[in-house]
Amino acid sequence: MIKKQWILAMAVVAVALVTVAFVQARGDDAATSDIAQQEVEYGPEGQPVAFPHNVHAGAGEGQYQIDCMYCHFSAERSPSAGLPAVASCMGCHSVIRGEGPEGGPSPEIDKVRGFWDRQEPIPWNRIYRVADHVQFPHMRHISAGVDCTACHGQVQEMGVIQRVEQPLTMGWCLTCHLEMGASRDCTVCHY
Ligand code: HEC
Ligand code: HEC
Ligand code: HEC
Ligand code: HEC
Ligand code: HEC
Repeated sequence: MIKKQWILAMAVVAVALVTVAFVQARGDDAATSDIAQQEVEYGPEGQPVAFPHNVHAGAGEGQYQIDCMYCHFSAERSPSAGLPAVASCMGCHSVIRGEGPEGGPSPEIDKVRGFWDRQEPIPWNRIYRVADHVQFPHMRHISAGVDCTACHGQVQEMGVIQRVEQPLTMGWCLTCHLEMGASRDCTVCHY
């Protein structure tokens, strides 16, 4: 609590009036967003389809080494890395039906095909999300050569994606910005 007051006081001194108004408004909802972030923790049952990153992006036997950018292609050119549309799954899964535990096609891949047939997007739950008033530009990090693994861990080895670096605090951002000589100006992340 004291720390937050202190940051606020510092902001009042340091930042332009507009920014100050915004930072104060954030005081309360920072707490709620922390709770929201913790609720995002989930197990294999949490997603509408049990999508295995390791099978698709891993380099081991029976894994297909698909580049991260094939599915998250906007990461290098926009703030958001984006999630793939069902159409990009169907490029393969109109043909590849996998195998279910009792023979026959995989029920998980059948679910993907079901979304496609109904022309519905898959309602994935978000794993990583920063507080509303923080700007996180993927493209700036990718073009500076920061690897996905620096922030998301070894995703290509994960059967169910796990969140590393939790929660996404300001201190975490600033520590790396200090190490890598990136800006720590309040207004690059808050505006
Ligand atoms: C480049 C081809 C390719 C693309 C694109 C692709 N997949 Fe796959 N996927 C595969 C292959 C190959 C397997 C392994 C199938 C097997 O085990 O026989 C697989 C396996 C799976 C499985 C595991 C099935 C099981 O029961 O073990 C799921 C679920 C799945 N894919 C969902 C998706 C979703 C959702 C997308 C789109 C976001 C997608 N895939 C995009 C090739 C692809
Ligand atoms: C075949 C498509 C495909 C490939 C290849 C792929 N992903 Fe994904 N990714 C997805 C899908 C679908 C989701 C949403 C389901 C989930 O969370 O598991 C996702 C979710 C994520 C998320 C969590 C997003 C959130 O909700 O916050 C991260 C981080 C991520 N991927 C990173 C990677 C990285 C890093 C690679 C390369 C090692 C990669 N992905 C390769 C399809 C893919
Ligand atoms: C410097 C840290 C960092 C790096 C590097 C990074 N991400 Fe992220 N990623 C984040 C943060 C923070 C979020 C939450 C962003 C938000 O809420 O706006 C996120 C969110 C995502 C999401 C959820 C959807 C979205 O667009 O917000 C996906 C998918 C994702 N990242 C994939 C990737 C992939 C693939 C790479 C590598 C090409 C990558 N990320 C590199 C920190 C990073
Ligand atoms: C692993 C290291 C790392 C982490 C973690 C990281 N960043 Fe960065 N960030 C960088 C680097 C490197 C740059 C690129 C600086 C450049 O282009 O000169 C950058 C650039 C930025 C920029 C653009 C700065 C400008 O000068 O316009 C913003 C905004 C930003 N990061 C926000 C964030 C936020 C928000 C977080 C935490 C949620 C975060 N970053 C976490 C390394 C990191
Ligand atoms: C590199 C990005 C980055 C920079 C630079 C940055 N912040 Fe933040 N800030 C964040 C992130 C991410 C959060 C969200 C933390 C959370 O939700 O837990 C945050 C949260 C806050 C909060 C909410 C209170 C709290 O404790 O969560 C305040 C106030 C704040 N920042 C003020 C500032 C001020 C003042 C500066 C300049 C001295 C600054 N920030 C610079 C990324 C940044």
